[in-house]
Amino acid sequence: MTTRVLVTGGCGFIGSCFVRLLIDEESDVEVMNLDALTYAGNPRNVEAVAGSPRYRFEHGDIRDEALVARLVEGADWVVNFAAESHVDRSTSERAGEFIETNVLGAYVVLEMTRRHAPGARFLQVGTDEVYGDVAWPGFPDEQAPLHPSSPYSAAKAGADHVALAFARTHGLDVIVSRCTNNYGAYQYPEKMIPLFVTNALADEPLPLYDGGTQVRDWLRVEDHCRALLLLLRRGASGEVYNIGANQDPEVPNKDLTAMILEACGKPASLIRPVEGLRPGHDQRYAVDTAKIRALGWSPRLDLSDGIAETVAWYRERRDWWEPIKSGEYRKFYEELYGSGS
Ligand code: NAD
Ligand code: DAU
Repeated sequence: MTTRVLVTGGCGFIGSCFVRLLIDEESDVEVMNLDALTYAGNPRNVEAVAGSPRYRFEHGDIRDEALVARLVEGADWVVNFAAESHVDRSTSERAGEFIETNVLGAYVVLEMTRRHAPGARFLQVGTDEVYGDVAWPGFPDEQAPLHPSSPYSAAKAGADHVALAFARTHGLDVIVSRCTNNYGAYQYPEKMIPLFVTNALADEPLPLYDGGTQVRDWLRVEDHCRALLLLLRRGASGEVYNIGANQDPEVPNKDLTAMILEACGKPASLIRPVEGLRPGHDQRYAVDTAKIRALGWSPRLDLSDGIAETVAWYRERRDWWEPIKSGEYRKFYEELYGSGS
């Protein structure tokens, strides 16, 4: 039997990986991709599957109730990736768009699902950043309190709460995932790994914040997407699932930067120390992933192999990232990091 999936934000980094996974590997799945094509949404991310008879695209906003109502009709799964996703934009610009899309937008998709596809399974794609700055040696599980630090993560926490309230109040079949930092192909080069890789390949400075002592738990995007598919199939309704690599030992940003420079064959002199650019900068993220691992999930690739693979992709695909690093991107970059950076 065919499974009909409404994916929102499927032209972004993670959503497009999920769409490619569904079309390439799941022959019984049909995908409707709703994306507003903000600066982060790129139709080229899904061009490999755009010709499939099982794929359709709709250009639009998740806050548009009538549009979402039409698209959700008949869906078996609804997967909400659409969001404003970059922490530095949420702290350096007005955060209204983050609240609007990440909270109100999630609510609209939930409400339209409740009304027009009440039997659908709804997966709210969330982030480990909602747990806030995690003191060593803590690994928050899904019951841990939420302490979001940035307007971005506060808005994502809001969406988690609204989604879980829809499960409790309306009996909607909701799952919330909370994943650690993703990396891989097609990631918009504002995030640390694609920014550092593309700058290194272009012999430009790598702006390393606050001494590079901060820790993130980097996970390859394909591993995240396989975890989401597993949750849609086998996750328990009304539950939250953490997803993460559990790097051991943990990898501070300065060590990750050294790995990137080595994989690019570039010198450490490219590192440019930057202080105070991310107000409220969280020191460490980490999560307890026992719950999803009990369903049979584990990451397939370790970090050094993943970085080598990712650098190889950006080396090959200058046609993808060079056009992005002009126009709106250049303006954002110079405003954030200063002109001449
Ligand atoms: P992204 O910024 O690359 O993509 C976001 C996509 O959403 C874009 O295609 C954009 O056009 C679309 N979008 C934005 N506003 C929209 C709106 N109002 N209506 C319709 N579409 C809209 O983000 P990403 O890194 O792929 O993250 C996807 C999701 O995963 C987000 O919800 C994010 O919070 C979550 N997440 C990201 C990470 C990470 O490391 N990147 C980790 C955990 C969770
Ligand atoms: O943890 C999951 C989250 O990971 C997602 O919810 C977010 O959408 C995603 O953007 C990511 O958030 P981070 O803020 O952790 O990712 P980012 O790549 O922006 O930063 C990673 C670390 O690198 C962080 O400690 C800040 C640092 N950094 C970042 C940039 C952009 C730098 O040192 N220099 C930089 O230029």
